[in-house]
Amino acid sequence: MTDLPADAPPACLADYAERARAVLPPDVWDYIEGGSGAEITLGANRAALDRVAVLPRVLRGVEVPDLTARLLGHRYAMPVGVAPMAYQRLVHPDGELALAAAAGAAGVPYLASTLGSTPIEEVAATGAPVWFQLYWLRDKALVLDLLARVRDAGCQALVVTVDVPVLGRRLRDLRNAFRLPAQVAAANLPNGRDDLAHGGTPGVSQLRARSGAAFAPALGWADLAWLRERIDLPLVVKGVLDPRDAQDAVRVGADAVVVSNHGGRQLDGAPASVTMLPEVVDAVGDRCEVLLDSGVRGGTDVLRALALGAAGVLVGRPLLWALAAGGRPAAETALDLLATELRDALALAGCPDPAAAQQLRTVASG
Ligand code: FNR
Ligand code: LAC
Repeated sequence: MTDLPADAPPACLADYAERARAVLPPDVWDYIEGGSGAEITLGANRAALDRVAVLPRVLRGVEVPDLTARLLGHRYAMPVGVAPMAYQRLVHPDGELALAAAAGAAGVPYLASTLGSTPIEEVAATGAPVWFQLYWLRDKALVLDLLARVRDAGCQALVVTVDVPVLGRRLRDLRNAFRLPAQVAAANLPNGRDDLAHGGTPGVSQLRARSGAAFAPALGWADLAWLRERIDLPLVVKGVLDPRDAQDAVRVGADAVVVSNHGGRQLDGAPASVTMLPEVVDAVGDRCEVLLDSGVRGGTDVLRALALGAAGVLVGRPLLWALAAGGRPAAETALDLLATELRDALALAGCPDPAAAQQLRTVASG
């Protein structure tokens, strides 16, 4: 990967990692790549995916697999969404606008973070299918204001992230005293530019400090039920690992859950997301859609998730690498590559479409 000339076309999403690293300031690279604590969960995500061996079927008469998939009542070009990621202008001046436009061109949903560095209205104006990701704020009036903006902007779904009562202890950010550069701010929030995120205190991650000040840590299922009453959009609960939480999500009316450990950025020592996927599918798969994220790096990972019963996946870091490396065109190429990889993986497993992949068997390997 590192031996490639910089202008060689990427052969897989990982090829963007070194390119991104070469152009990003080291503390920004660390913020993106890093996990919490000893990064055990971060590593486990990848290792656990690699241990899922998918049993291919043969002679199934499949010519070109159809990648399209229905998620939350909409048909998308493939069962993949762009994971919500904060502050995308950290990695490229076009930030959210470029990645959302790439998602729109690829026909997949773009999940816009509450902590986006571009206002949700501008993201939606790219024409991409947008799902809004909500971080529940201490100030309920602000939550209501965001919900109204999300509705007016024409977002297709509301995704509530529930695994950040506090931001995980990301040692790289603490050591770097990570803070946002002056030109990047939380564009959806009033005071998004406040000096909590921009000040520099040794040993303190300003993101962690700012999130702690803004997010409501004591959120409960009653709050989600309250929210369910107030929105007409499909509701997605992102960040569950325990099947009992998935059952509670269904009980309050969630249309989907995302089995996720936040890419290893929250509770270090939590299991790999894919390890918990089968139990969550067993618990709620007949009552809501189950998505997976954390560690998905290519088409074979999407196949693994489908074979374990997921309706689709979210992809995080690799798309930020591509955005950093080359803005919208690179992000489009990355999503194209993923589609090509998924098409090949489905063909090689004898599946005409993602639904057929859900019938595949898996075995634990390694
Ligand atoms: C995230 N993630 C995240 N999740 C969320 O719900 N809201 C957010 O604002 C963010 N911000 C964020 C920033 C960065 C830089 C990263 C890497 C991740 C978590 C994200 O949605 C997703 O769960 C993981 O990134 C998935 O893991 P992979 O694909 O990055 O391994
Ligand atoms: C992160 C937060 C902001 O993972 O979700 O960095």
